Amino acid sequence: MSQATEFAKGLEGIVAGETEICCIEQDDLIYRGYDIHDLAENATFEEVSYLLLVGEKPTKAQLKAFADELIGERALPPMVIDLIRNTARLPGAVPMDVLRSAVSVLGHLDEECQDNSPEANLRKSKRLLAKIPTIIGHMQNVIDGRDIVAPNGSLGHAANLLHMMTGRKPTEEETHIIDVSLTLYAEHDYNASTFAARVIAGTLSDMHGAVTGAIAALKGPLHGGANEAAMEMIKEVGARDNVDAFMQRAFTEKRKIMGFGHRVYKNGDHRAPILHALGKAYAQKKGADALKWFEIGERMQAIMMEQKNIHPNVDFPCGMTYFAMGIPVPQYTPIFVAARITGWCAHIMEQHANNRLIRPLSRYTGPAPRKWNA
Ligand SMILES: CC(C)(COP(=O)(O)OP(=O)(O)OC[C@H]1O[C@@H](n2cnc3c(N)ncnc32)[C@H](O)[C@@H]1OP(=O)(O)O)[C@@H](O)C(=O)NCCC(=O)NCCS
Repeated sequence: MSQATEFAKGLEGIVAGETEICCIEQDDLIYRGYDIHDLAENATFEEVSYLLLVGEKPTKAQLKAFADELIGERALPPMVIDLIRNTARLPGAVPMDVLRSAVSVLGHLDEECQDNSPEANLRKSKRLLAKIPTIIGHMQNVIDGRDIVAPNGSLGHAANLLHMMTGRKPTEEETHIIDVSLTLYAEHDYNASTFAARVIAGTLSDMHGAVTGAIAALKGPLHGGANEAAMEMIKEVGARDNVDAFMQRAFTEKRKIMGFGHRVYKNGDHRAPILHALGKAYAQKKGADALKWFEIGERMQAIMMEQKNIHPNVDFPCGMTYFAMGIPVPQYTPIFVAARITGWCAHIMEQHANNRLIRPLSRYTGPAPRKWNA
């Protein structure tokens, strides 16, 4: 007991470590010095990935080499394809679990799995970044009962992801929306999944293990799973005219409105308006059936602000945007993984480079000492 200092449920307000990768403030979200608005508007996801993993903005030549390397690493080993075929349609398997297992198996097949050197870690980061969209694409093909769509080397990261999922070449606008959403989702300092990854890496365990644990952490509806849960809730509301009654009932039942609130941001999530604007513009062009979800969502937002003063987080517009694009809901959190893999790997490398075991204390609330043979 003597070492105990202070206790905060859920570690709220506790500074649990240092990082050079990301800074979250009420008024800013910054990746390695660059503001998120600047990155969303001016950088591609490949550039943001390079920035996060390597530490600096790439030159043209560095970017070309990086993008080529990713393209060269997209294909999956046959064992992982078999795993996807054998699990993706199991009644109890959800895409996040299949993705978690596939990443774990990639570890068995990666000859550098046990090598935690900075060089090997960077190479493994690139392999994971390249292969995760392929896992998602193949998984969706299996779920849809169609032939597997191979990666297309002439398409960039975002376009190739959509292409592999659907078999069709996406439009420029669809590619741009996915590309920006990947940038917005790429990094967020000591969020739950990144912290989980750092705890695992802090024992000097390996990158694939840390990423596998991070995927499990991201799956939960209080974290990354909120983009799927938010859209399921909007679907449950069903129509603009149902929103007011739905919200009052939810408040009475003390039901959480998914896609709202944030542990750190109290004046709104910087990423949400960026994605909302892109998604709504897309839905407007697509027509009433797509726009309807934004009309429901905007009324929900208005009521949350009026009655609870709680803002939407990025998962709320993500749900509506991906839905308007026709992406199956259970793939929203896996797509989040395709983005956050960059942040996780950057943090794992940072942890390994300056490690100390992460081991907090707990406050004991159990029975007083007693005798087994009393
Ligand atoms: C993100 C989240 C887990 C943060 O949790 P937290 O920092 O522990 O905050 P709390 O859950 O303690 O919420 C504080 C208060 O706001 C309320 N609140 C927070 N988010 C809410 C939501 N989405 N809907 C309704 N009320 C909410 C809580 O009920 C609580 O009210 P109370 O003080 O009257 O009990 C929480 O806002 C949440 O569950 N949101 C929904 C899931 C989600 O969108 N997650 C993605 C996060 S990016």
